[in-house]
Amino acid sequence: MAPNNLPLGRFIALILLSLQIVHTSCKSESEVLLDFKQPLESNSNGGILLSSWNSSTPPCSGNKENWDGIFCENGTVWGLKLENMGLSGVIDVEALNELPGLRTISLMNNNFNGTLPSLNKIGELKTVYLSNNKFSGNIEANAFDGMGSLKKIHLENNQFTGSIPVSLTTLPKLVELNLGGNQFEGEIPDFKLGILRFLNVSNNRLQGPIPASFNNMSASSFSG
Ligand SMILES: *[C@@H]1O[C@H](CO)[C@@H](O)[C@H](O)[C@H]1NC(C)=O
Ligand SMILES: *[C@@H]1O[C@H](CO)[C@@H](O)[C@H](O)[C@H]1NC(C)=O
Ligand SMILES: *[C@@H]1O[C@H](CO)[C@@H](O)[C@H](O)[C@H]1NC(C)=O
Ligand SMILES: *[C@@H]1O[C@H](CO)[C@@H](O)[C@H](O)[C@H]1NC(C)=O
Ligand SMILES: *[C@@H]1O[C@H](CO)[C@@H](O)[C@H](O)[C@H]1NC(C)=O
Repeated sequence: MAPNNLPLGRFIALILLSLQIVHTSCKSESEVLLDFKQPLESNSNGGILLSSWNSSTPPCSGNKENWDGIFCENGTVWGLKLENMGLSGVIDVEALNELPGLRTISLMNNNFNGTLPSLNKIGELKTVYLSNNKFSGNIEANAFDGMGSLKKIHLENNQFTGSIPVSLTTLPKLVELNLGGNQFEGEIPDFKLGILRFLNVSNNRLQGPIPASFNNMSASSFSG
């Protein structure tokens, strides 16, 4: 029954409005991935490979993937692996953030350019592989703030410049970091929490001492 002093027509309008709000803020994973695909371009077979991304099937049926380049668990997308597809264009991180189960992204070996996407907008990523693309520019010092689940990040063989972002040094779960083959400058920052097991900063423009916490790592991690 409608509350006493609210006219029935307005009461119904309010209910319809709130239903509409619930509806519009709840896209399906299919719609979200199609939003993500829309601004991508491919100079090779990417267009053909991503043709499985269409509304004829949902992306996931249980643990089974109906669409190429994704990983599913319990009907939810947990991984995106679009490698060697000649991809470029815009990486829509806002769309990716609407995939609540997304934990791993690999866009290795493509032609993405421009600055690093705002990865820390995406929920609880554990692994990120962006190696062998054409990303460039400085990375904000705080670019990785809030990425408390991040375990592995690979940015090697791009054209990043400037300092190694200090927010990488305080990530509590980071075990693997590859920044090799870029144009990072300045000193290698010290990593606060010593669980990092793999670091490669070779072939950059870094200078200064290697922080003591890395004394037992292979010299080839720092060469060049
Ligand atoms: C849509 O995707 C399915 C696989 O999920 C594929 O078999 C079909 O050819 C695709 N349709 C188009 C129009 O590309
Ligand atoms: C998937 O479902 C199984 C069985 O219900 C459960 O044990 C598992 O934790 C679920 N995984 C996720 C990521 O929710
Ligand atoms: C990225 O690539 C596009 C298309 O090739 C080009 O128009 C744009 O200028 C490039 N941006 C950067 C920052 O290199
Ligand atoms: C360096 O030493 C720490 C413990 O002091 C160990 O956990 C880590 O695995 C070692 N790293 C390498 C590359 O041997
Ligand atoms: C670091 O990367 C360079 C290539 O950039 C490679 O030659 C070297 O073997 C790597 N070191 C380790 C420890 O992986």
